[in-house]
Amino acid sequence: MINNQWYAVLSSHQLRKGRILGARRFGEDMVFFRTESGSIGCLNSLCAHRKASLEKGRLTGDRIKCPFHGIEYDLTGKCVYVPAEGRASINDHSRFHMKRYHTREIGGIIFVWYGDKEPDKEPDVFDVLTDSSYSYDHTEDFWSVDYSRVIENQLDVSHLPFVHRDTIGRGNKTLCNGPKVVWLDKNTMQTSADNEVDEGQTPKNSEDSEIKRTNLTFKFPNMWLNHVTDKLLILAYFVPVDDEHAIIALRFYNRFTGIKVIDSLIATLGSIANIIVERQDKRIVETEFPKKTGMSIGESLLAADLPILEYRRKRAELQQESAELGNAYASTLSEKKTECLCRTYGE
Ligand code: FES
Ligand SMILES: [Fe+2]
Repeated sequence: MINNQWYAVLSSHQLRKGRILGARRFGEDMVFFRTESGSIGCLNSLCAHRKASLEKGRLTGDRIKCPFHGIEYDLTGKCVYVPAEGRASINDHSRFHMKRYHTREIGGIIFVWYGDKEPDKEPDVFDVLTDSSYSYDHTEDFWSVDYSRVIENQLDVSHLPFVHRDTIGRGNKTLCNGPKVVWLDKNTMQTSADNEVDEGQTPKNSEDSEIKRTNLTFKFPNMWLNHVTDKLLILAYFVPVDDEHAIIALRFYNRFTGIKVIDSLIATLGSIANIIVERQDKRIVETEFPKKTGMSIGESLLAADLPILEYRRKRAELQQESAELGNAYASTLSEKKTECLCRTYGE
């Protein structure tokens, strides 16, 4: 994982008002809930008292109530009521406070801040998420590999004529020019398949190949956009479940007619195509080992794997950056603590 990032982790339609949803993310069991007023809470799922799962709890106003002994937590994970101690209790309940995760909701996607410090930025998203001229349909699937494998598969240009030989990879274009990779900003890279039928020619190198009109853009940490045409975009996000499991969420966006009901129908059909292609990928990618990728995992990469290599490099760089920031943050905290202690002891 890359710390201190906003990850797209859940589709809004899975968390209606008044609903509590248990979900494993980042190797941790979490509970998401949406109050009747629409606010979203996300906490570690195990109650601080005796570790029953809040997933089986109930919502009362803006609070979640544990199903076991009725302890109530607010949206920030603060324990606000311990029934066994009575409403009049003035006891300090801070030992019951739960780990909470910050959330944001944009374009029907719920983001969670994963990191060791408070959020210092907002999620970086593609414009299509908030562009109401598009209609979309959403599908998702569960894969038995780390989310990094799923991401890299979406950046892999040389698998197309093999894995998808009867769908999006038709035409036997096995020779890969480049591919070109450009960084649109610190967080966003773009590439495209520039493949040809092999007639004995030498593939162009990355500099001489081009970003096609149909191209792929990836935003760290876990969102991808396939720009097919201005009227058709396929968005994906890759949800980290744990080191060996991930969810791929795929959205087919279009504005072919501008008439919502028709575009929605097209999106539904588009999702069927998305699922067919996605299952072709899943069948192969789930056989890869190790299940999680990294800089040195014994693979021998090709020139065509440049987008994958760039992804790995940037991920390593961001991990390094966040580790340094985390250390700086931890030492600031410990300095503050020391300062407080000094004040307490009058130094
Ligand atoms: S385990 Fe949750 S209130 Fe006791
Ligand atoms: Fe694929």
